[in-house]
Amino acid sequence: MKTTNYSKIADKYDKNHFRVDEIKFEYDLKEYIENNVKAEYNVLDLSCGTGLYLEKQINYFDGININWYGLDLSDQMLKKANEKVKNIEFTNADVEEMPYHSETFDFISNNYAFHHYSEKNKR
Ligand SMILES: C[S@@+](CC[C@H](N)C(=O)[O-])C[C@H]1O[C@@H](n2cnc3c(N)ncnc32)[C@H](O)[C@@H]1O
Repeated sequence: MKTTNYSKIADKYDKNHFRVDEIKFEYDLKEYIENNVKAEYNVLDLSCGTGLYLEKQINYFDGININWYGLDLSDQMLKKANEKVKNIEFTNADVEEMPYHSETFDFISNNYAFHHYSEKNKR
């Protein structure tokens, strides 16, 4: 199977306008918040890459008390993310061994990454 070494292409990936321009307001998160009123929310972008999605959602949801998290396997993708967006807790880890307790998050996003995971049925 062909695999992509994201650490080698982090710079290029971050400037990919096809990806940047298509990221839209997360209506599912808005709906979740409207239906589950809480003092604060914890939101994880799983395999967040260079933080393109997080950067946009943080602006969209400005004013709502959300703790944002990002996890990715590639340290170079996370390096780009760290340069761009602040106040996010980034974690360099494999999705197969996530260092979080269950039910930590209110909402988890996952964009263009699931096909990379080797154990797709693992819970
Ligand atoms: C196509 S990029 C998508 C990045 C970002 N979600 C976006 O939409 O721009 C795929 C990402 O999945 C990450 N990834 C691949 N396998 C992973 C794994 N086992 N655990 C965590 N992240 C993984 C890669 O490092 C890469 O950043």
